[in-house]
Amino acid sequence: MKFIVNNGGRLSGNIRVPGDKSISHRSIMFGSIAEGTSTISGFLEGEDSLNTLRAFRSMGVDIEGPDKGQVVIHGVGMNGLKQPDMPLDLGNSGTSMRLLAGLLSGQSFDVELCGDASLSKRPMERVTRPLAQMGARIDTTEGGRPPLRIQGGAALQGIDYLLPMASAQVKSCVLLAGMYASGKTCTTEPAPTRDHTERMLTAFGCSVQRDGATACIEGPASLTACDIDVPADISSAAFFMVGASIAPGSDIVLEHVGINPTRTGVIDILKLMGADIELFNESEVGGEPVADIRVRSARLQGTRIPEQLVPLAIDEFPVIFVAAACAEGETVVTGAEELRVKESDRIQVMAVGLQALGVDARATPDGMVIHGGSIGSGRVNSHDDHRIAMAFAMAALCAQGTITIDDCENVNTSFPDFVGLAAAAGLSIRSE
Ligand code: S3P
Repeated sequence: MKFIVNNGGRLSGNIRVPGDKSISHRSIMFGSIAEGTSTISGFLEGEDSLNTLRAFRSMGVDIEGPDKGQVVIHGVGMNGLKQPDMPLDLGNSGTSMRLLAGLLSGQSFDVELCGDASLSKRPMERVTRPLAQMGARIDTTEGGRPPLRIQGGAALQGIDYLLPMASAQVKSCVLLAGMYASGKTCTTEPAPTRDHTERMLTAFGCSVQRDGATACIEGPASLTACDIDVPADISSAAFFMVGASIAPGSDIVLEHVGINPTRTGVIDILKLMGADIELFNESEVGGEPVADIRVRSARLQGTRIPEQLVPLAIDEFPVIFVAAACAEGETVVTGAEELRVKESDRIQVMAVGLQALGVDARATPDGMVIHGGSIGSGRVNSHDDHRIAMAFAMAALCAQGTITIDDCENVNTSFPDFVGLAAAAGLSIRSE
């Protein structure tokens, strides 16, 4: 599938983007191993979170829905999962694989986790190494890539783990294994990363002790069913924040967006660039802060992005690079080498795509230097990466001609009906 996006236009109206992907994954995982019935609303019906849902169904969990974002999970308790008949295919979803590796390391049965071509290339030793320290037995292919073969019946011991990189997936994986371990499991992160696991485990009645960069869990733990209201995904809202900022005359409201402070780096970065972003109707749902976000167009300026904001905006860089390409002057991103091991190498793929559109963008080992001002027109490849496809779609709002984006199927992993919603908001987009 390709996107063809005509240049120009502006974004307006009130829109609600789909549910938060990270929170949707966790709601299925924790609801499944809780005692009792949990109702989830606002669940993301995208391929990634659906793969998590299917995985738990194939481990014997009775899950109703999703029906208009509502999912009812009849939890089986910490030790109620059953061995699946087949390997669990997690598609494109790194979060499913890394969190499930932790959650399934302490089960009594063997299980295999596999995924699509992109996921099969992503590094898994970052989770298998701490899990092995806890006593888990997991085989990978050469170089620590999927599939993961997890042997059941391992007796896990709590560990004190200092994360070598800022990764919420690694932190969550270790904490979930810690629920099945004896003793205390602690993670310490080098920089703050999204804390949905810590917040949602607390909502499910499992105490997570937090002290600065350290989070600890006492095993064996147990969870009690809990209803979850999933806010709209700030990572999906980010495309519209940038689109509205760069398209003159735009004025858009993004409703009920999760504004957990470990996720709002994109707002801080865009504000540093001069964006006009206002939060209102702030409230809290199930331990997660939400707000409506109004964005009006503004003249963006290039900036040097502070490294401490990088993990807080890690999924938003494709579209932040687009903002930088439209901004006046130089934008410098450093400390973002993790972008090279996402669904694609997002530094390389974005630099090549921006260059194809005539932008002066230079990839560096850990980021990019972009001299902004204008975007031309042409054809780019998303390399099957959902966020690259949506970022280049928004680029058309400040481009000089049509942008065609190849290989856009995976937009469905995180943002079903992106084309419909973006078109309704004013983007001149069609898919073919
Ligand atoms: C996620 C954590 C991040 C992020 C991913 C979702 C999560 O990955 O990029 O899209 O839900 O925990 P890392 O922890 O590998 O940075």
